[in-house]
Amino acid sequence: MAPKKGDKKKGLGGVPITYIAGALLAAVAAAFFAWRGRTHFTKGPILTPLKAPKVTDLLEFDAAYKDRMLWGSYRSGLYFGMRTRTPKGLVSGLMWFDPDDFQTLQQYRVRHEANQGDGLGSYGWKRHDGRNYGQQVLVDGDYNITLSMLKTFGEDSGPGGDWSLRLQLRRTSGMPTQRRRISVVIYIGDEDTPREPWQVLPDGEVADLRPEPATLLSGASSALGRGGAKWALHAMELATEPPASARARGCRVDYLGMSTEGHKPDYLLRVRDVLLSTMYERLQRQPPSDKFRLYLPNGATTSSDLALFQVTCVIPSTVDFAFTSTSGDMSDYSERLEGLVGPGLDGPLAAAERAFDQRFDRVFGEGIARALQPQQPPPADGPEAAAAAAAASEAAATVETAKAALSNLLGSMGYFYGSSLVRTGPPGSEPAAYWPAALFTAVPSRSFFPRGFLWDEGFHQLLLQRWDAQLSRDVVAHWLDLINSQGWIPREQILGEEARSRVPAEFVVQDPTHANPPSLFLPIAHMAAQLVAARAAEADGAAAAPDAEAAAELERVGAFLRRAWPRLAAWYNWFNSTQAGPLPGSFRWHGRDPAAAAELNPKTLTSGLDDYPRASHPDGSERHLDLRCWMALTSQAMYDIGSSLGLPPAVVGRYAAAAGALSDLRPLLALHFDEGRAAFADWGTHTEEVALEVKSIVVPGEDGQPPQHRDVSERVSRGWPLPQYVPQYGYVSLFPLIMRLLPTGNEPNATSAAAAAAAGGAAAAAAATGGGSAGGAAGGGAGGAGAELTLQQLQQLTDPSLLWSEHGLRSLAKSASLYKKRNTADDPPYWRGQIWINVNYLVLRSLSYYARAGSPEVAAAAGAAHDELRRRLLRTLVGGYKRQGYLYEQYDDETGRGTSSHPFTGWTALVTLIAAQEY
Ligand SMILES: *[C@@H]1O[C@H](CO)[C@@H](O)[C@H](O)[C@H]1NC(C)=O
Ligand SMILES: *[C@@H]1O[C@H](CO)[C@@H](O)[C@H](O)[C@H]1NC(C)=O
Ligand SMILES: *[C@@H]1O[C@H](CO)[C@@H](O)[C@H](O)[C@H]1NC(C)=O
Repeated sequence: MAPKKGDKKKGLGGVPITYIAGALLAAVAAAFFAWRGRTHFTKGPILTPLKAPKVTDLLEFDAAYKDRMLWGSYRSGLYFGMRTRTPKGLVSGLMWFDPDDFQTLQQYRVRHEANQGDGLGSYGWKRHDGRNYGQQVLVDGDYNITLSMLKTFGEDSGPGGDWSLRLQLRRTSGMPTQRRRISVVIYIGDEDTPREPWQVLPDGEVADLRPEPATLLSGASSALGRGGAKWALHAMELATEPPASARARGCRVDYLGMSTEGHKPDYLLRVRDVLLSTMYERLQRQPPSDKFRLYLPNGATTSSDLALFQVTCVIPSTVDFAFTSTSGDMSDYSERLEGLVGPGLDGPLAAAERAFDQRFDRVFGEGIARALQPQQPPPADGPEAAAAAAAASEAAATVETAKAALSNLLGSMGYFYGSSLVRTGPPGSEPAAYWPAALFTAVPSRSFFPRGFLWDEGFHQLLLQRWDAQLSRDVVAHWLDLINSQGWIPREQILGEEARSRVPAEFVVQDPTHANPPSLFLPIAHMAAQLVAARAAEADGAAAAPDAEAAAELERVGAFLRRAWPRLAAWYNWFNSTQAGPLPGSFRWHGRDPAAAAELNPKTLTSGLDDYPRASHPDGSERHLDLRCWMALTSQAMYDIGSSLGLPPAVVGRYAAAAGALSDLRPLLALHFDEGRAAFADWGTHTEEVALEVKSIVVPGEDGQPPQHRDVSERVSRGWPLPQYVPQYGYVSLFPLIMRLLPTGNEPNATSAAAAAAAGGAAAAAAATGGGSAGGAAGGGAGGAGAELTLQQLQQLTDPSLLWSEHGLRSLAKSASLYKKRNTADDPPYWRGQIWINVNYLVLRSLSYYARAGSPEVAAAAGAAHDELRRRLLRTLVGGYKRQGYLYEQYDDETGRGTSSHPFTGWTALVTLIAAQEY
């Protein structure tokens, strides 16, 4: 994960609302433009795209595909928002609040951006197919909203089709409430200039939303195709069950249409403040004797390009909205509307739900069922029957969690457009703008990280590619097209004002010397493996020829890899040349700050593991084990991709050589094996004698105030840093296992130099028994050559005093000196003991490999570790989802509780693959 972000969007928090009502957004606009004015525009190699055909221009992403993908819930940072996949989008969003409660105003209690501070009991997609259908449940205290979204492509639909939105507003069962009504607000804005003047309430004022649908808004937008297709928004209220006899009338509609001219991004970003301040103004004009009610003022300018519709209903109610578009004449959509809103929508929604469930069963459900199946058939009664029933309910909970995890990964996918800010000069110099580009990406967390992260994406795609391979390729294509002429890809993508508004300024600027794990090679290697397997089957001749659809899919995978090849080669080369370490065959993450006086151990954000302890005194002598192992994976993947494409040995030979050298155990042991501890480790200038201390300093007073004493915490180093293996056992130590660089024990002994080295390493390890906590190697057994080392590493893996906890593998050993230590006074431990799902997944993947490919002893040990780790992780994740209502960024190794940001359905969504045993 990337730097921990504070939530910076609460800028208006303490300001009296009258001030906002008056001075509203001018100041915000000024700040934005000032920020943008600070960038400069010299184009050097850093700001120049790699010269190669774009992967996103591949035939499979043609106009027809783009049309079907035009609309989606691509506003990752909101509870719900639809937008077009165009640089300047037609965008919509949902807000909701209690119109009768003073707190709404006083505490800005209007829900819009997904925010942990709102304290929703839970929210998230229960189903989402990534393309056409989604169902989300939002539980907000005593009421809840079930939201269903469905895209439809009718004969008369314009580009991008139509979409429906159903909102079921309910009381949460078992929660007493005074609340009678709830307001939902749907808004639409055009980031571009509308093609035609908008018509707000084109058919006149709307008194009621039943029994006929009403048209709220119509317009035309260039986002819907070059011609500027016409579109309209409609709404309808459904008869409730049971009919709410007590109420005099149905939902009421209030509205506001305004122009954002001169305030282009800001009014849309601040739409919640627009809503609050205009409702407040209306309230002020009301006679004081009237009841407290919050309504929009009901007015629209002729040049509106942002319109809000407030629909206020008694709970329970159900309201449908539909967005229709057409390239032709818009005059009659009434027939089309019958299937888009009202009772006519029931059938299509039910069918979409069924289709999703069936597809999930086909792709993952059967795997999950198989993996959870008890060994014996359940007996009819007795205690065994009770146990079987418990197992069945556990299986159901696992499927539900896996479904939600996948759905949230898909439902949080975002489309962003804009420029990264990049450092092109010396540190501290003004940043420059990268070329403007689109990114279609999954995001780690809607509330905390609603934007693209390079190394997270590799994990996201492991799941996504098994669900929808083309969608996944589309995402990877966008990432690869962001590579510059030097072969660098910025690691955190903060594109466009919407994304930027949620990132503290100090994290925005990207450094072109900084890397991030090339985890995208994991899903890309999976693609190459498909080609290799197909080729092998073909050569074998025994297998039946693939059917037409499978053949076409292989064709697309091949075309994709061929197009991606020059970009992957440039990326590989950038790593191999810029991140090379001090010794041949070693590698080093850049970007550690030796002068970081406040940090107990200077962070390594580039490695993705942030505060995971490395050498205490960063310098050029460091050798980072994880990066070396990533390079082993990458080299092998490059070789596999190249040979699957049939590239000549002259091209792929050097990757084979690199893969061979990096998986050779002898240099790996020489560079990274700490014999004293019998563990793999980083190397660097290090001392364990460091601590954070609070010092009192004097700071000059501001504005004529006297100087003040302030406490700051600072690192003090009492020991003399020496070159050595870094004695912190944790996730990094597992990388040789993770990347399958340890012997299986089945290597043919005569031909493998690695086997001899392994035997040597293991012998050394055994000799060092008592050093460190690992206790030395397992005695030599009947396993093949080198198996001792692997068995010894597996024994360490499962040692409860190190990483093996009841709830999964913790990131840092309990016995490590920095276990659960704060890095600064403000930074709690992050990768210092907490359980992270991405690394746990990689370990399971490797254990499953050794269980298959290992010698009998290795296979038995790996298999047992795999089964037990998987069981514990599922208990943690499935149980946590049930208890806490969310999937989390990390899990506590002592309690198993989810911690840090939530919902976090980026790589934590790998729970789906863990449940299905898909590696
Ligand atoms: C939402 O409210 C309905 C009606 O009270 C209830 O049946 C349902 O369980 C609630 N959903 C959640 C997730 O609490
Ligand atoms: C990686 O860099 C080394 C050192 O410059 C070079 O010898 C090697 O050929 C490079 N590997 C590949 C696959 O390009
Ligand atoms: C492995 O080495 C042993 C002893 O040197 C030898 O007897 C055996 O044939 C070798 N096995 C293989 C598969 O090369």
